[in-house]
Amino acid sequence: MTSLLEIKNLVKTYSKQPEPALDDVSIKVEKGEVVVIIGASGSGKSTLLRCINRLVEPNEGEILLEGENILDPTYNVNVLRQNVGMVFQSFNLFSHLTVIKNLTLGLTKVKGIPIDEATNVAMDILERVDLADKADNYPAELSGGQQQRVGIARALAMSPKLMLFDEPTSALDPELVGEIISIMLSLAKEHMTMLVVTHEIGFAREAADRIIYMDKGKIIEEQPGNKLLTDPQHPRTKQFLQRIRK
Ligand SMILES: Nc1ncnc2c1ncn2[C@@H]1O[C@H](COP(=O)(O)OP(=O)(O)OP(=O)(O)O)[C@@H](O)[C@H]1O
Ligand SMILES: [Mg+2]
Repeated sequence: MTSLLEIKNLVKTYSKQPEPALDDVSIKVEKGEVVVIIGASGSGKSTLLRCINRLVEPNEGEILLEGENILDPTYNVNVLRQNVGMVFQSFNLFSHLTVIKNLTLGLTKVKGIPIDEATNVAMDILERVDLADKADNYPAELSGGQQQRVGIARALAMSPKLMLFDEPTSALDPELVGEIISIMLSLAKEHMTMLVVTHEIGFAREAADRIIYMDKGKIIEEQPGNKLLTDPQHPRTKQFLQRIRK
């Protein structure tokens, strides 16, 4: 069976940086799976997610989405934008657009949906993240947690097959983390396929079908369920978990 996402031997070296940010990384994600990636700062987690939606071009390797190589020069990036949603640590909303316009932009420009219909779709999704009353506000008029809910809603509006989350709660005040985690948990329950970089161990424990530990651009350990948290095998995984639990 073809995996939803298959990454083969990915290598990324940035200029001015001798050590590769990604060093022969291979991962498979099946439809409906929630895969959590943990690892120290600089271990390549963001680079990996950025390669998957082509914000960063890897030097070597393959990324197959439903068997199609998204790195192929002939691959239509618009198809990728529809199928893969990304939620960023720093929200990355369009500050000059209202909340509703942040959601409708991709629907009209990428999916070619007429604005009336796009607005209806967007309003439904805003309801879901409990932000329908903020549709006409600008991002700067929202709390961090609300902005990140818009970030999630914007990605969901495209009905993606895969959602990428890059530390979606780490820019938030502690009291705002819960509202984002609860949306992510509900997506996981609905079997949204998710690849999540997070330090929220509670989310990983509850939702992960698999947890991956990255160190210096490599996958050091990968375990089903929450085994990596309860029974880590590699000394570096153990060390990392001890550090973040302190
Ligand atoms: N645009 C860039 N140009 C040059 N080097 C970069 C760039 N982005 C990342 N790097 C380097 O690549 C390595 C991996 O960075 P990356 O951001 O992927 O790590 P990370 O695991 O997401 O870290 P964090 O937990 O701090 O977000 C680091 O050494 C970083 O300095
Ligand atoms: Mg990062």
